[in-house]
Amino acid sequence: MKPFAKRTNWEIGANALTLAVEAYRKSGKPFFDLIQSNPTHCQFDYLKPELLKNLEDERNLAYHPNPRGMLHARETIALYYENMGLSISPEQIFVTAGTSEAYSFVFRLLANPDDTVLAPQPSYPLLDYLAGLNDVKVIRYPLSLRAPQGRSNPGFEIASSSFRTPRNDREFKNPKAVMLIHPNNPTGNYVTKSELEFIRKFCRKTNAAVISDEVFLDFCFKETPEQAPSFAGEKEILTFTLSGISKILGLPQMKISWIVVNGPGDLVQEAMSRLEIIADTYLSVSTPSQNALEAWFEWHPAIQSEILERIFENRQFLAKHFPILEAEGGWYAMLQIPGAQSDEEITLKLLQEEDVFVHPGYFYETEGNYLILSLITAPEIFQEGVSRLKKLSF
Ligand SMILES: Cc1ncc(COP(=O)(O)O)c(C=O)c1O
Repeated sequence: MKPFAKRTNWEIGANALTLAVEAYRKSGKPFFDLIQSNPTHCQFDYLKPELLKNLEDERNLAYHPNPRGMLHARETIALYYENMGLSISPEQIFVTAGTSEAYSFVFRLLANPDDTVLAPQPSYPLLDYLAGLNDVKVIRYPLSLRAPQGRSNPGFEIASSSFRTPRNDREFKNPKAVMLIHPNNPTGNYVTKSELEFIRKFCRKTNAAVISDEVFLDFCFKETPEQAPSFAGEKEILTFTLSGISKILGLPQMKISWIVVNGPGDLVQEAMSRLEIIADTYLSVSTPSQNALEAWFEWHPAIQSEILERIFENRQFLAKHFPILEAEGGWYAMLQIPGAQSDEEITLKLLQEEDVFVHPGYFYETEGNYLILSLITAPEIFQEGVSRLKKLSF
């Protein structure tokens, strides 16, 4: 008997595509990585040594631990929301070392072992790991392809049947939280105002909280009047809004994210007191990054427009060659694969025959076959990779 916990019984190394990519990396043979979503590997101009000047700060010689994060860092985050027209008190903000840690804190706060949370399908592959590591079960609610409007291609939306028709499974009726990704990775759809209404209704009925992951909120390339604003302003339902500078400022290495707690006053107070003890147990956020946060946020408009310009350029290039699915925001594009070949077969073939790496939709639990591309990839790599993608008929 091995001494390991069941929650770590993963199928390590079983995936053919991961093995093939690993072999490529080891061989040193260059390949066109069209799913590169680490912004520090995408040749952005904003990554200048000037950003590091803010780390040379005498305040970094002292340690003043605060479970919610340093007050001036939280004030900077509150200002980010004020610029969106939302009044958030620094008291409602908990700084964390990454969004994954924020998810873990909220799962620990809300769920007992084997409790359930609802999450969109398709969506961010790490969710299952994050939930599993916290002994929480993920039940999927489907996103469906909406009918194309005018000359546009179809895009995703929360299937209206997901929350409206009563489902019989016990887990779906008693979830601890509804998870929203606003906008979703990889489908790029924001939660709409009407979706928000039926989610609120569902949460009122089930006492579920909302966890809204808004790391891509700022990367909106097609605003629609139906789009719901940030959930950090939610008043009715106990809500945990997660975000961070890994995407907003394209600085994942600096490890600053946060949770905003909002909703009915008494629940918010109690959630914050409990979260404070969870956060106090770890105190994992670095002092230098918190001290530099205000200065880094001064770069927000410049960083955002550089990343958005990249997204526009790549999206436009891709749309010239393929019918991409409609989306309103985020860092990804989806191509639907017609025909009999599976997304796994095509991604393997692309790597072996054309030296191009994309993700198959099944990584994100898509229904049907899709290829997923990152839109922040450096344009030369993106354009060459997409041209090679065209050579493979599918
Ligand atoms: C939806 C979503 N949330 C969170 C993250 C990760 O955020 P962090 O780097 O702050 O942990 C990602 C990364 O791709 C993501 O796609």
